[in-house]
Amino acid sequence: MFVVGGTASKTVAEDLSKRLHCPLISTAVKRFPDKELYVRILDDIKGEDVIIVQTTYPDSNIIELLLLQDAACEAGAETITVVIPYFGYGRQDKKFEEGEPISARVIAEHIGIHAHKIVTVDPHKEHVLTFFKIPAVSCSAISELAKYLKKKETIDLVLAPDAGALDRTKRIAKRLGCDYDYMEKKRIDGTTVEIKPKTLDVQNKKAVIVDDIISTGGTMAKSIKELKKQGAKEIAVACTHGLFVGNAKELLVTAGCDEIISTDTVRSEFSKVKVTPAIMRTLGVDYPKK
Ligand code: R5P
Repeated sequence: MFVVGGTASKTVAEDLSKRLHCPLISTAVKRFPDKELYVRILDDIKGEDVIIVQTTYPDSNIIELLLLQDAACEAGAETITVVIPYFGYGRQDKKFEEGEPISARVIAEHIGIHAHKIVTVDPHKEHVLTFFKIPAVSCSAISELAKYLKKKETIDLVLAPDAGALDRTKRIAKRLGCDYDYMEKKRIDGTTVEIKPKTLDVQNKKAVIVDDIISTGGTMAKSIKELKKQGAKEIAVACTHGLFVGNAKELLVTAGCDEIISTDTVRSEFSKVKVTPAIMRTLGVDYPKK
């Protein structure tokens, strides 16, 4: 078995190759003068099982993944498993308004063309896995995030920024042996989120707010401010996929955030938790050859 790391997921691929004791394949990735992408697999992978690791965010990494998959196929790989640490476009998993595409399905269908199996981490909604039309499984970084939080000082409360994220929160709280709750969120538009306060006993408590994605930081910042108003002593935020778009970091810090924690599905200065152990557990699943 060989591992190929796309530009977006070099560190996850390296980690995976070390833990699986499989060689990491050399690749060349460059841009033509007109900025079109060029990729080349430099090692012989004929007849081999290949794992390609690439986060599909931002857009250019989707193109790189599709080119790497085609290159692996052309080079005669026996099977191609695509590990997608962060599945970008996962949030547009249905038509919210007439005239919209189902973006997650479009991306999934294209990735599914040259792949035998997909593994992704904490997709926004599990049903996006059905869009791939090939065996697709997800794993969760919850255990890894919980392990990180457990090593820190005692956490009194785990909170979800909305009811939709409650299950994730419940699972972390169970591992930490503490209480959990959620806050009510109303999305006004793409960048504005309104948090309707819920009665939470956070007075003098150390809380961690957990979500699958931090993008602009707006959702978390609103929750932090609300909890501060209610007397929380310390507040950390944790997520699987930390995009930290624009001034997200400043937004969180200004709101009163004491610590920002993310995994390495999208590399940032807050990637304190590795997702590879979660991916490894899932790679053990058998899958049929195409
Ligand atoms: C949306 O439903 C997700 O679970 C996150 O709550 C959302 O993506 C966070 O976005 P932002 O950081 O821009 O508020």
